[in-house]
Amino acid sequence: MSELQSLDKAPEDVETDDCLSSYTYLYNPTLLQGRMAFLTGGGSGIGFRIAEIFMRHGCDTVIVGRNLQRVTEAAEKLRAATGRRCLALSADVRQPQSLIDAVEEALKTFSRIDILVNNAAGNFLCPASSLSFNAFKVVLDIDTMGTFNASKILFDRFFRDNGGVIINISATLSYKGQVLQVHAGSAKAAIDAMTKHLAVEWGPSRVRVNSLAPGPISGTEGMRRLGGAAAEAAGMWNNIPLQRAGNKTEVAHGALFLASPLASYVTGTTLVMDGGSWMTSPNHLTASLDLWSSEMKKSK
Ligand code: HXC
Ligand code: NAP
Repeated sequence: MSELQSLDKAPEDVETDDCLSSYTYLYNPTLLQGRMAFLTGGGSGIGFRIAEIFMRHGCDTVIVGRNLQRVTEAAEKLRAATGRRCLALSADVRQPQSLIDAVEEALKTFSRIDILVNNAAGNFLCPASSLSFNAFKVVLDIDTMGTFNASKILFDRFFRDNGGVIINISATLSYKGQVLQVHAGSAKAAIDAMTKHLAVEWGPSRVRVNSLAPGPISGTEGMRRLGGAAAEAAGMWNNIPLQRAGNKTEVAHGALFLASPLASYVTGTTLVMDGGSWMTSPNHLTASLDLWSSEMKKSK
């Protein structure tokens, strides 16, 4: 055998919301040189790593979340690790005016925005029959409305005249009706539909719009909330064709591809990054309800 590494080898990652201690470039380090990206939910998890990988490829960033302290600390780490500029701003994607203020601030600082990553989301396990009307609405408000709000504001204020790229972080939950996930699955399915509608309407303005749907990704709040530890302990990764969870750097590399000129003719599609997981992972109502009720008992 040659000494070449296998083509499904995971890149470096760290489980916490910290920058990578080492990074091996696979793409040209100047891939996003001179670009600016606006990321919702960029203070933690997948959004944080996307910001880092974009910055390592020459991009400046604005990261937005509700918790100003969290995004401020994240921006300090990102600047220190990459030497690029990163502005931390507080906004709630459910409130258009707070997003308009953040976009205006970003444009005042950087004079341009090339890439929007709609990554902010909310989720928890809950059977549909136990979900309050408000709980369902809150998740759709953050995920779906938040994605529309940010996309429309960026289009109005910059992309209509200058072109741009939108990446919507969605999920595979609706593909086979994942149990205890009607709220998030519905919200993300609507986002994938929005991706196609906006790609068609905004293509003539040179705006590319794509979704990126991760599977189970280690070192994330999503994985913690959706029973990642229990899944790992139960050997559930063996159900995934690639036999492991994904990592945040892998998702960030997908976002980097979609953001870059490598994807110059890609719009209106969904890049699924889940190791094949959605096709083979279990979707058992009774077992999932048992897990949920034991978690609920523990939290009381
Ligand atoms: C049932 C719940 C609940 C839970 C909240 N609610 N948590 N219902 N089970 N665990 C209900 C509340 O009772 C309330 O309904 C309504 O939801 C709104 O709750 P609030 O706490 O008032 O909302 P808010 O402060 O806006 O917070 C939103 C949130 C919260 C989604 C509930 O968890 C959040 O801010 N999450 C952000 C971080 C996050 O979720 N990250 C993971 C993303 S991962 P009532 O009726 O009482 O008013 C992800 C993975 C996807 O998306 C796919 C993975 C494979
Ligand atoms: P995370 O760390 O909780 O990321 C969510 C981010 O969104 C947080 O930084 C949060 O910051 C921000 N946010 C939440 N509500 C907001 C609001 N109303 N306005 C502005 N910002 C808000 O979770 P993650 O696991 O990395 O998930 C990131 C994305 O990947 C999400 O879209 C998720 O659905 C998707 N995804 C994750 C997985 C996974 O395995 N983790 C799988 C599939 C899809 P504040 O709390 O400070 O606002």
